Amino acid sequence: MSGRIPQSFIDDLINRVDIVEIIDARVPLKKAGREYQACCPFHNEKTPSFTVSPSKQFYHCFGCGAHGSAVGFLMDYDHLEFPEAIEELARSIGVEVPREDGPAPRRDPRRDDHYSLLERVDRYYRSQLREHPGAARAVDYLKQRGLSGEVAATFGLGYAPPGWDNLLNFLGGDAHAQQLAEELGLLVKRDEGGYYDRFRDRIMFPIRDRRGRTIGFGGRVMGDEKPKYMNSPESPVFHKGQELYGLFEARKASQKLERLLVVEGYMDVVALAQFGLTNAVATLGTATTPEHLERLYRTVREVVFCFDGDAAGRRAAWRALENTLPVMRDGREARFLFLPEGEDPDSLVRRIGAEAFREKTVESVPLSRFFLEQLEQQVDTRSVDGRARLIELARPLIQRMPDTVFRDLLLDQLAERAGIAAEKLQNRVFAGETAHTEEPPRASVSHSGRSPVRMAIRLLLEQPALAATVETPCGFEDLDAPGIALLGKLLEILKESPNLALGGILEHWRGQAEERQLAKLASTPLNLPPEGLGEEFKGAVQRLIEQRNRHRTEWLLFQDRQRGLDDAEKRELKELLAARHPKTD
Ligand code: UTP
Ligand code: MN
Repeated sequence: MSGRIPQSFIDDLINRVDIVEIIDARVPLKKAGREYQACCPFHNEKTPSFTVSPSKQFYHCFGCGAHGSAVGFLMDYDHLEFPEAIEELARSIGVEVPREDGPAPRRDPRRDDHYSLLERVDRYYRSQLREHPGAARAVDYLKQRGLSGEVAATFGLGYAPPGWDNLLNFLGGDAHAQQLAEELGLLVKRDEGGYYDRFRDRIMFPIRDRRGRTIGFGGRVMGDEKPKYMNSPESPVFHKGQELYGLFEARKASQKLERLLVVEGYMDVVALAQFGLTNAVATLGTATTPEHLERLYRTVREVVFCFDGDAAGRRAAWRALENTLPVMRDGREARFLFLPEGEDPDSLVRRIGAEAFREKTVESVPLSRFFLEQLEQQVDTRSVDGRARLIELARPLIQRMPDTVFRDLLLDQLAERAGIAAEKLQNRVFAGETAHTEEPPRASVSHSGRSPVRMAIRLLLEQPALAATVETPCGFEDLDAPGIALLGKLLEILKESPNLALGGILEHWRGQAEERQLAKLASTPLNLPPEGLGEEFKGAVQRLIEQRNRHRTEWLLFQDRQRGLDDAEKRELKELLAARHPKTD
């Protein structure tokens, strides 16, 4: 499993599998006309708005906006990473996934040793909690923290005994195992040669990856010694910016998670689970990264961040918000729960109980409110200056958000608070993105739904075979208009893989803004009879070529006045003018 998967293989695979079969095996579908329907597996609903189109090899939920190809469905529903989803599809039709050699992610051949060593060490720490002569102290500590044997077992809690060489002795004289343990940060090298145990006299919390493999540890002292927690360092298998403590356990605890709580500490996760709140995860002593967020939203649609109610907690919450904005696609929700002074989730749930805690998460502050309130605190909204400043503060943040209904609603609220018309605010916030200079003449394609670029793209998404009806390049490629590059790339892809349907097309833009734009466009109604699509497509391409020629002509005429034309340009202009006014003699 090393190397990149060739795009041609992915195209071919998506052509060969049937999305209806893939989804139906997981979410039973009912036929409805030419499509299939079910209640959406990604949000709660009573009437089905989740549809799967066999001709487009694409699914779409009109309720929550979830959409994608068979690959995307497996990633979201089975919580697979991209290569795993491809492997799964390939397995379903009995083919091997080829890999390209090259610099792309090659697996370290020793990596399985890292995992198996971690598993041995994990078992060792757990056995020490039962067997070590001094384990009673550790067991007492856990009891005193209010943890049951059951929850300790669920999270695989263990005990690293006091002393410098317990793990070292456990590994015996095996030099290879010692070296692996050093790479994993379990053993530390001595200056004078040899190793000593990193974790001594601590309660051990194994950190597991999505598949449940132990990839590192956190260790807590039982008294007041410092540092209170010690964590495995980054290693070939442990990346703090990506992993979330408790995610494996949360997913195991419930089939269909709806929301995840992001808390600060190991103990918070375990204590909440002890009280039946089995949906908490913790970052590992780092801030929440965009990678964390992607992982969270791949699992659930709602994330509740728990922070201290003090100033430091609010600052941390604001950082989390800044990282969350770019991933706030429609259907995703983020909320903030601020804890009372001096409490953490562990102490709070013990004081008020699971039900009251759950209520607090449900009543927590939505992202939009936290966003607007934090900004308003920095300005005086009674003055015109203050309101202008409010917009300036919000602008860079809103610009980072994907183009969604949620963003529109947030803009509306901001407009109301700033006392400006929503449309004016839209223009202010996104000014510069569409602005263009007067001279020299440039293309301006109408932004309306019927621009030829949009039309051509829309038609290709409906009927990819149309790509074969034109020669490429078509002659409009250098037109300076929104969407032209996208249309060009789309044509190129379809020339290469003429059988690709919508689902497979979108895979070429996985994770990019275009993917969303194209999916959105594909779901706008066409209102054309199927037999008219070919004519319409030809017409759109023709209009683009004419537009391009008109702009090129104007540009050449402009340059002629400015600086004069060289011979080639003169010839080109003559041809363009001749084509515009065909001789009729
Ligand atoms: P806290 O100091 O808030 O501890 O650290 P806690 O979670 O309430 O733990 P208990 O209740 O005292 O047992 C929160 C998180 O910060 C990281 C750990 O990930 C911890 O869970 N941390 C804290 C460290 O990495 N090292 C430390 O020394 C302290
Ligand atoms: Mn605590």
